[in-house]
Amino acid sequence: MFYSDPHLAYTVRCDKPNPLYAKMLQQAIGGIDGEMRVMLQYLFQAWGSRAPEKYRNMLLNTGTEEIGHVEMLAVAVALNLEGAPTSLQDEIVAQNPVVGAFMGGMNPRHYLSAGLAATAENSNGVPFNGSWIVATGNLVSDMYSNAAAEMAGRVLATRLWELTDDPGMKDMLAFMLARDTMHQQQWLAVIEELDQPLPAPSDFPMENQHNEYAYQFFLHSTAPVPENSRFAQGPSLDGKGEFSMVSAKPLGQIPVLKPAPPAAHGTVIPKAGAMAADGNGVGAKISGAAENVISKITGSNPGTSQS
Ligand SMILES: [Fe+2]
Repeated sequence: MFYSDPHLAYTVRCDKPNPLYAKMLQQAIGGIDGEMRVMLQYLFQAWGSRAPEKYRNMLLNTGTEEIGHVEMLAVAVALNLEGAPTSLQDEIVAQNPVVGAFMGGMNPRHYLSAGLAATAENSNGVPFNGSWIVATGNLVSDMYSNAAAEMAGRVLATRLWELTDDPGMKDMLAFMLARDTMHQQQWLAVIEELDQPLPAPSDFPMENQHNEYAYQFFLHSTAPVPENSRFAQGPSLDGKGEFSMVSAKPLGQIPVLKPAPPAAHGTVIPKAGAMAADGNGVGAKISGAAENVISKITGSNPGTSQS
């Protein structure tokens, strides 16, 4: 269960309200790199956790902390919208270019749908998407996903920090940047205390995969790879192989698919002479099959003119 406290997790102060900044802050609420994503990701991981109890509790602690971060940002958006124009009268826009800029740039839904408050969207007004949440039930996979989410979130927070000169907003972001730092460390620390975490999942028998390809860097480019590149030489990070680099070459066949069924209307009829000269190529085989389909539909011989 959850309790709430009327206080914010940290002070949220806006010295110079700015509707455009409110729009920017939405990315940290409802963006793929935002707080709703990590909040729901950690909570769903916790609610489905079959790992040792301390990890479930850890996820619940931090997921709940993230609820407080969503709250802080929602309040920050609302504070940035205080005093925002709510009139579209031409003379107001014409007399005050700043007002014009606001009306041209602020998120209209902040006023129209929310009455000068935050929405569960990203900075482009795209609704939060629950499918961004990663909760695989594999602790290692989830911890790396969590660390990556915190890294993307911290990158976003640094950019939001650069975009404002409002001391209150900068102070709020300085707190969030610090918490993102701890959370990156926290998820990676879990991996450090696990035995043989890689490759995830580590309980799948290695003999069931083609191990000769497990530690090769496939070179698909003419761009040179510097000799000391760690990803192409030395022991693999899971200690189970040795990195090497090989020129990519096809390991499979040229695919040959059967023609589409008639109802799929995918049939094409090549012009005479457009197929392989010997008449025995792959294309000729496809053509022959397609002609069979056509003759079954029309009862005619597609090789003869019907006009
Ligand atoms: Fe957060």
